[in-house]
Amino acid sequence: MDESRQGEKLMTDFAVPNGQRKMMIESYGCQMNFSDSEIVASIMSEAGFGTTRNAEEADLILVNTCAIRDNAEQKVRNRLVFFRSLKKKNPSLVVGVLGCMAERLREQLIEQEQLVDLVVGPDAYRDLPNLIDKVDGGQKAVNVLLSREETYADISPVRLDSNGVTAFISIMRGCDNMCSFCVVPFTRGRERSRDPESIIKEAKELFDLGYREVTLLGQNVDSYKWNMTSKGEIKNPEQSTTNFAQLMEMVALVNSKLRIRFSTSHPKDMSNEVLHVMAKYENICNYVHLPVQSGNSDVLNRMNRGYTREWYLERIKAIREIIPGCAISTDVISGFCAETEEEHQDTLSLMEEVQYDMAFMFKYSERPRTLAERKFTDDVPEDVKGRRLTEVIDLQMSHSLIRTKRMLGKVHKVLVEGRSKRSENDLYGRNSENVVMVFPKGDLKPGMYAMINAKECTSTTLIGEVVEVLA
Ligand code: SAH
Ligand code: SF4
Ligand code: F3S
Repeated sequence: MDESRQGEKLMTDFAVPNGQRKMMIESYGCQMNFSDSEIVASIMSEAGFGTTRNAEEADLILVNTCAIRDNAEQKVRNRLVFFRSLKKKNPSLVVGVLGCMAERLREQLIEQEQLVDLVVGPDAYRDLPNLIDKVDGGQKAVNVLLSREETYADISPVRLDSNGVTAFISIMRGCDNMCSFCVVPFTRGRERSRDPESIIKEAKELFDLGYREVTLLGQNVDSYKWNMTSKGEIKNPEQSTTNFAQLMEMVALVNSKLRIRFSTSHPKDMSNEVLHVMAKYENICNYVHLPVQSGNSDVLNRMNRGYTREWYLERIKAIREIIPGCAISTDVISGFCAETEEEHQDTLSLMEEVQYDMAFMFKYSERPRTLAERKFTDDVPEDVKGRRLTEVIDLQMSHSLIRTKRMLGKVHKVLVEGRSKRSENDLYGRNSENVVMVFPKGDLKPGMYAMINAKECTSTTLIGEVVEVLA
């Protein structure tokens, strides 16, 4: 997934009537987790909880966790130890773990480690109010049941930390791919898609509230398929199946002023049909995140990714042909089991060939229960992993800079998102290719579109001036 917000903490604040119990949610990991926290906030506000940003004044602290790499878990553990220490001052404080670590570690977090009172997996959030009652009654509470159906389709998320312009819409959950390095199929369960009508309704509601960009979210959004249960049975034979290309077209038609992004796409499902829909609608952004993981076909085979280097490069060619100028980003893992120096060089040469606009790059971290943990040895020494990762990062930084420089001197259509961190007098937004632009505020307001001429840049940001304000 696009993990640009990975590791950031999310704290929430909305009006709290006197006497209500106060909750704080902190989220880690991918955008799916941030989106899930908005569903949790909705369920909890129905149950009468208000929210606070201040851990010391909270009656309930929920930590929505990530298990993707060991360091992601360590970060959360440190927070949990801190939250447990707050109980000395406030013995009635309830601390709960949600999300992927809850699903992975289950009772262990309560029984062996005695870190928390409540453990709730990603498909069990509707049960939260009951579980909290149980904890209030002096018991510890755990629900980590995974579901083949749950998509929270009927729950209206409470938009947390929102800029009022951009929002996430979760369109599918889970993953059936079983990449050998990945813990997600174990923590998020089977793949299932959400009813398209509920997705369109949510997009329309967001637009009416003034939002101007939605990001369609899922572990593999391009595998989206409605009308099949996870067992492959037709739910409603009269209604034809909706695939991702068709769904995206339906969302694009909600309003031409509503921008659409999506994350993450699996290369195996990135069909020409999807690319043609992207090319057809101006409001679908020219940006594809297409994680490659490695540039060597043997490594890809060990990773169980379901494609080869050549097949992946053919998809890149199709993107470039069908959507000229489309930005492409990726994820790379360095030092996967038995990765040789030559195989690592193949990743660098693939990056040279594609010249990604942006990348998320990681050292391989072995995860319990995964195929790789059972079948292979995590045998690339730590220092070699580190050196290879540095080479990958350095190369990507040079490509990102080339990309940003290429955008200089050109006029970009930008959706204004909010005030720039740099100055009171500047605003920021992004162009279709997802590059942040900073520009003088003039009469512009968040939610408006403007044409901005890019005058200067850093490797990641364009600084520009307003050429035209669009309605
Ligand atoms: N569903 C998305 C990926 C979700 S996880 C996809 O298939 O593209 C986000 C990224 O974390 C992955 O793309 C991968 O690069 C990285 N990742 C996953 N498991 C990892 C592990 N065990 N060690 C290091 N990086 C990992
Ligand atoms: Fe993990 Fe692979 Fe599924 Fe992505 S597609 S979530 S990397 S198993
Ligand atoms: Fe996301 Fe981390 Fe879970 S990346 S799906 S929160 S393991």
